[in-house]
Amino acid sequence: MDNVARLLKESWTLVEEHRDRLSGHFYARLFLLDPELRSLFPVQMSGQGDRLLEAIITAIHTVDDPESFDEFLRSLGRDHRKYHVDAAHYETMGVALLDALRSTAGDGWNLEYDQAWRDAYAAISAKMLAGAAADDDPPFWHAEVLTHERYGLDTAVLTVRALQHPLRWRAGQYLSVEVPRYHPRVWRTYSVANAPNDDNVLEFHVRTPQGAGWVSGALVRRVKPGELLRLAAPMGSMTLDRSSERDILCVAGGVGLAPVKALVEELATYNRTRWVHVFYGARTRQDLYGLAGLQEMVAAHPWLSVTPACSEDDDFDGELGDISEVVGRYGPWTAHDCYISGSAPMVRATLRVLAGDDVPPERTRYDTFGEL
Ligand SMILES: Cc1cc2nc3c(=O)[nH]c(=O)nc-3n(C[C@H](O)[C@H](O)[C@H](O)COP(=O)(O)OP(=O)(O)OC[C@H]3O[C@@H](n4cnc5c(N)ncnc54)[C@H](O)[C@@H]3O)c2cc1C
Ligand code: HEM
Repeated sequence: MDNVARLLKESWTLVEEHRDRLSGHFYARLFLLDPELRSLFPVQMSGQGDRLLEAIITAIHTVDDPESFDEFLRSLGRDHRKYHVDAAHYETMGVALLDALRSTAGDGWNLEYDQAWRDAYAAISAKMLAGAAADDDPPFWHAEVLTHERYGLDTAVLTVRALQHPLRWRAGQYLSVEVPRYHPRVWRTYSVANAPNDDNVLEFHVRTPQGAGWVSGALVRRVKPGELLRLAAPMGSMTLDRSSERDILCVAGGVGLAPVKALVEELATYNRTRWVHVFYGARTRQDLYGLAGLQEMVAAHPWLSVTPACSEDDDFDGELGDISEVVGRYGPWTAHDCYISGSAPMVRATLRVLAGDDVPPERTRYDTFGEL
């Protein structure tokens, strides 16, 4: 292992058990160093886990694998312009992070650890700042809600039009959404459910947990046509490899259908030769909100097939079981390009099935709607 990576991992063991203390020190120090920074963060900062600090730590632990995270950090930097973050803020945050690590680690901390964290933080910030500087797009777009359709209690399909400036995304990508009217400064990522178009119209599929969920709850239950959202830079690499001639497997769980639908729409603009198999799973048939739309696409495109499945609906007239099991029954998928999106357990189970078929990891792209 590279020396910096070793030092980071070793020093992390000193603080790992005291995450809450680390987080407390970090924000206290940050807002003391620059009180104006507080206004960039959501009003309510507790109860949702500390996304920012966790992300910095994860990114820092990947410094020994810079290639795979280069594009991710660049897009994260582009995306961070939505928080009004500038270069000076990165420096202040680096100081706060180091202070918090030192005071949380106590006597075990040493100069070598200090240097390793400073170098790693500087490398990551440099990539994020480079990504931000190279972007000509605005830090965010205002977008007007055009349509809003509810499916049951917890799911909605929305279309919005991005205003002022063209918003360029690739099928399969996601972007951050803010609902300023209900939860200002709280952003969450949602996959775009349609292929890029000249009208600047984006579709989202949102599911909210019963009784909880800040942004998803507002998007499903409160937002109405005519209201304004804000959208930030598209991100993600679950995109099509146009040079590939392999057939395609798409596996979607619930609203994980969103990026898969965008990929199929994009394929419909040029594909003639690749078979595309979509597996679409949900608990009950009522939860298969996108099935009718998919079946229309199947009728229009001879290269497309759709296999729906329900895991908790014995009377469903189709495949029964978790979608990963169903995918396993139809395999092997060894010669396919594979795309997976949905909840963490669903993605994990499908990855296991594909690994069992010896699908090379570089042919599998996935997005997890939550921690993997
Ligand atoms: C790449 C990517 C793409 C995504 N695409 C989509 C998509 O297309 N559609 C979609 O619907 N989602 C998508 N997500 C998930 C989305 O980003 C959000 O994570 C999700 O909507 C929840 O955000 P929230 O603000 O509504 O919930 P939060 O308020 O952040 O809550 C998150 C979780 O914590 C729990 N929780 C919240 N408050 C409490 C509490 N007080 N006590 C106990 N538990 C609590 C909730 O049950 C919930 O499970 C995607 C995520 C990623 C990473
Ligand atoms: C190494 C540097 C950094 C990394 C890796 C990083 C990463 C992240 C990530 C992954 C998130 C989660 C949500 C999202 O994707 O937007 C986040 C949130 C956030 N970041 Fe950063 N960030 C860094 C630096 C900064 C700086 C310098 C600022 C400004 C002072 C900042 C401000 C924020 C804010 C305001 C949030 C939202 C927090 C919340 O919703 O609770 N970040 N960051």
